[in-house]
Parts: sequence; structure tokens; C-alpha cells
Amino acid sequence: MTKPDWPVWLPLRRDLMELSPYGAPQIHSVARMNTNENPYAPSRELMEAIAGQINEISSTLNRYPDRDAVSLRVGLADFINNLSATDLTAENIWAANGSNEIIQSLFLAFGDGKALGFSPSYSMHPLIAHVTKTIWVEGKRREDFSIDLAEALIQISKDSPKLTFITTPNNPTGTSLAIDEIAELAIATGKIGGLLVIDEAYAEFSSIQSAVTFVKRFPHVVVIRTMSKAFAFAGARIGYLVADSKVVSAIQLVRLPYHLSTLTQAVGLVALKHSAASLRTVEKIRSDRDLISDAISRLGARVIPSNANFLLFSVIEPQRVWKELLDQGVLVRDVGLSGYLRVTVGTPQENQKFIDALAKCIGGKV
Ligand SMILES: Cc1ncc(COP(=O)(O)O)c(C=O)c1O
Repeated sequence: MTKPDWPVWLPLRRDLMELSPYGAPQIHSVARMNTNENPYAPSRELMEAIAGQINEISSTLNRYPDRDAVSLRVGLADFINNLSATDLTAENIWAANGSNEIIQSLFLAFGDGKALGFSPSYSMHPLIAHVTKTIWVEGKRREDFSIDLAEALIQISKDSPKLTFITTPNNPTGTSLAIDEIAELAIATGKIGGLLVIDEAYAEFSSIQSAVTFVKRFPHVVVIRTMSKAFAFAGARIGYLVADSKVVSAIQLVRLPYHLSTLTQAVGLVALKHSAASLRTVEKIRSDRDLISDAISRLGARVIPSNANFLLFSVIEPQRVWKELLDQGVLVRDVGLSGYLRVTVGTPQENQKFIDALAKCIGGKV
């Protein structure tokens, strides 16, 4: 997005003047494979249940919502307990308008000093750090996008970040951290009195153990999850964290009153009650991801092995290829990483359209 030209009369913070609003293009007439959404619409069963629930609660809309979103948090705790064999309660969960709001609340409550992340990773982490005036320290990844654990441990003890971010599976690379590596990071961040924040937006697509299983063992481990990806519920805007109850209490100091609407809370609960139907596309997306990965490799491009619903692949001129794909009706993401583009798994028709279009663009030049 282009930077606005700010007029002199506007008392905008100087440190914001150089920023552009975050956002990927939203173009409706193409195969939209650029924002890691689930390409499948909610099932008819879920759509009907949502409509019925909205009908029922609409008579209460003159009242503010439940400020603490207790029923939704109970539903989310049950969901996580079923998935990961944990025994968490609503006191271990906080829910908000997407996990981006969760990330913002973490910075507002704990971003006093430095925050550390390992680049390339989810670009909203440093952006929210900037906006909340937290110093962002950029740790590096290896050439294959893995994290050098020994280096990371040194960096944690050197910088003493209040917040250390790990995204696993990582966006935009799709790579994951093993659970014993997360344990080592948890021990190191505990020693310096910081929080270890594990952003697991894509966890349901991965077969690696979730860090929610660490929340009871390490009270300073915070896991971020979302209903935007595997749940196919991005439009509902529901993200949540799983953490020690003291972390949840601290977040309540910075949350806006009635932040989560009655409608959001109600439809979130309905989707959780239909979680089997909501998550029915996960297996299909995983196997389609592997098919696309093989097809890209056959075209001669390098694909980074992914545990998520997207793939990062190498191209010589990403900007030219991005434009030529768009000209053929396929929208992928230029994540600003030299030599790479990212594609989200779409419907089988979209995936085929992408492969055909890519074959035309790179024609052996990768
Ligand atoms: C790693 C990661 N975290 C968080 C988010 C934000 O998701 P949402 O605000 O929709 O929950 C995204 C979205 O792409 C993401 O990739």
C-alpha cells in the first residue's frame, strides 16, 4: 500500500509518518491465494446453525456483550483440551477480534523494553511492536529458514526481551520448531523473566505437538491461536491465547470494555460446537499442499517444506512472476523476501490454475 501524504496540520506521531497500513491486495475476480485463508465456505449445516443463533440473540443486541466472553472461552478451552489432551479452563484462555488483537494486547501489557523475533516471520509482530513503542530485535534464521537454537539462546540472554516471538508453523516459510526446541527456549526466556509467545495460527495443519501442552509446566509460555485459518472462519474475527491465568488477568488491564461483540461470541461458539464440520477441510488442504509442492518442484523451482496451508517457493524475479500470475487471474503473495513468492492452498480448481499459470511464467527459468 502507498504511504499517505500527511498534511502539516495533522499532529500525527512522527514515528508513524513513515509507515504504510498493513494489508494484502483484495481482488475478487481472481483465484485469491495470497492471505492464507481457508478456500472452502462454511458447511450448510454450520451456516444454518449460525443463522438460527443470530436470530435467537438479536433480541439482546440493545445490551452490551459479556465483557469476559466466558461461554466462548469455555468452548475454546474444551476444543484445545480435546485436541491436545490438556486440562485447561476458561481462565487459561483470552479471546479477541482475531489473533492480531491478541498480539496487540500482549504488546500493550508486556511490551516494556525489547521484543525479539526471528525473521523472516509474521510481519505484524514487528509492526505492532513499532506502533506500541516496543524496541524490536530481529533475530536471524539460517538459509533454510530454520532457527539456530544456540544463537537464539545467546540472543535471549544478551537482550533480555520481555517478549520472544516464535511462529510455528512459521509464516511465510511454513517451517516448524520441534517441541523440545520450544522447551529450551522456554527455559531460556524463563531465566531472564520474559514471556515466550508461540504464534500457532496454522497449528491445525501441522502434525507437530502444540505448545499448549507447556502452559501448565511453564507459566510464562503464551500460545496464540486463531479460528481464521483451519476453522475457515476468518470473516468472524476470532483469535485467542492459551496461557497461565495470571497472563489472562494482565491482558484484561489493557483490553477495551466489551471488545468482542455478542454476535462474534455467539457465532464462535456455534463454530466450536460444529468443530468437526468446520475442520473437515484440513486433511484435504494438507494433501493438496503436498500435490502443489510436487508440481512446483517439477517446474524446477525450490519449495520450502511446509506444515501450514501455504508454500514458499523460489523464483528469479518475484515481482515479474507475481504480476504475470495476476494477469492470468491468480493472486499470490510477494512477501518481500528476495527470490521468493508464497502461495496459499486453494480449491483444486484454483490450485490447477496456479500451476498452469506458473508453468507459463517460469517456463524453465527459476
Ligand atoms: C502467524 C500469524 N499470526 C496471526 C495472524 C493473524 O490472524 P487473525 O488476526 O486473522 O487471527 C496471521 C494471519 O495471517 C498469521 O499468519
